Amino acid sequence: MSVLGLGYLGATQAIVLAEQGHTVLGIDPDPKRVALLQEGHLPFFEPGLKDLLEAARANGRLSFSTEYDERLSSIDVHLLCVGTPAGSADGEVDLSAVFSAGLSLGAFLKENSVVVGRSTVPVGTAEKFKRVLSDASQGITFSLAWNPEFLSEGTALADSLKPDRIVVGAEDDRAVSILRTLYEDQIASGVPFLVMDIATSELVKVASNSFLAMKISYINGVAEVAEKSGASTAKIAEAMGLDPRIGKRFIQNGLGFGGGCLPKDLLGFTRTAEKLQATGLTKLLSAAVEINAQRISAVIEIAKEKMGDLEGRNISVLGIAFKPNTDDSRESAGRYLAMEFSRLGANVSVHDPIASKFSAQDIGVEITSDLGSALASAELVVVATEWPEYAKLYLDSSSSFPERFVIDGRSVIESSAWIDAGWSVIKLGEGQKLYPSQRRY
Ligand code: UGA
Repeated sequence: MSVLGLGYLGATQAIVLAEQGHTVLGIDPDPKRVALLQEGHLPFFEPGLKDLLEAARANGRLSFSTEYDERLSSIDVHLLCVGTPAGSADGEVDLSAVFSAGLSLGAFLKENSVVVGRSTVPVGTAEKFKRVLSDASQGITFSLAWNPEFLSEGTALADSLKPDRIVVGAEDDRAVSILRTLYEDQIASGVPFLVMDIATSELVKVASNSFLAMKISYINGVAEVAEKSGASTAKIAEAMGLDPRIGKRFIQNGLGFGGGCLPKDLLGFTRTAEKLQATGLTKLLSAAVEINAQRISAVIEIAKEKMGDLEGRNISVLGIAFKPNTDDSRESAGRYLAMEFSRLGANVSVHDPIASKFSAQDIGVEITSDLGSALASAELVVVATEWPEYAKLYLDSSSSFPERFVIDGRSVIESSAWIDAGWSVIKLGEGQKLYPSQRRY
């Protein structure tokens, strides 16, 4: 089979399929990415994946190329995994890679092959993609299916091997039966296999991601109220989460959601709802976008309130990855905070244990992997990612600053250790004041 697009989704997909015994040709126009994969390196950090890549390369089942060429004409199943990033207009999705892959693949499409879209797309995209593919293949018969991917960064491998569900949008039984065979191990282990029409399958993905984003924004909205009422969001979420109808996951308050998926899909789905005049949903989703942005401004406001003018002040942001176990800093809280503090004239340093090695340093701020110096040089520390190393830190109590503040944006630090070392602690979502002697319940 072929995997078209070797970003996060495509590279993981190609490696996992090769591991499962398929012969896979991965294609991506980016020569750097392809060269890295050919040499056995991942273009991103993902736990556990590098070992599988090495194994797949060793058994010869996996090859990579920058070219759509004759090799494709002997392949029966093509998986479209290209990126669908945010477009230029607000909420618009850039689908150029989808259509360009369709054009390139069409020229080599084999009779009766199956093309499976895995990329996240706005509803109606598959229909347009099919037209592009039909025109480019000039009358070749093929089956199209859409099979959205639900893997999360940091747990991509486990999510691919044992997803919560397999969703298949199809127009004919042939595509369904090929996908049933492809996923036979997962289906045998009890993973639900849901078949539906293509438009419905496109919507399942964006509706799911938007719901997750809304859950996070809901608890962050509650956090605003808790902060002002002297209440604890952590305790509210703990109690709410015990209701199985609500569930414990995705109600962790803090700096909100980032990454390449939730922000883009929420905006994209808002745009779709707006275009289709689903006004209620548009409002609901727009509020989730607004609350997410508000969490960043809240931190800036707290910093100004505690420290006054931020010009020339020394601020360290801990964590630029949008969540732990990834080097991805797209739309991350750490990135937005560092840029905003820097715009306000502060001396900003950013620490990240992994993203410092990988991320493009395009935020105009130096990223360091030296946590000690990031702490020693700061009069304000903002914890923006819940990396486990931030939970327990060695804190030096000697300091040249008259006052030092830490804002915990992810409920990760051990407050008492910071307080003992002379820091004032502010935990987002916690209205209760933290003093060393205060009894906590
Ligand atoms: C998300 C979805 O969770 C996946 O199901 C989906 O397949 C994927 O997008 C995709 O579309 O490809 P991912 O982007 O890897 O996965 O990240 P999440 O684990 O969803 O986390 C997103 C953000 O929400 C992170 O910044 C995280 O810190 C934040 N978050 C998460 C919270 O602020 N609170 C929570 O309770 C949970």
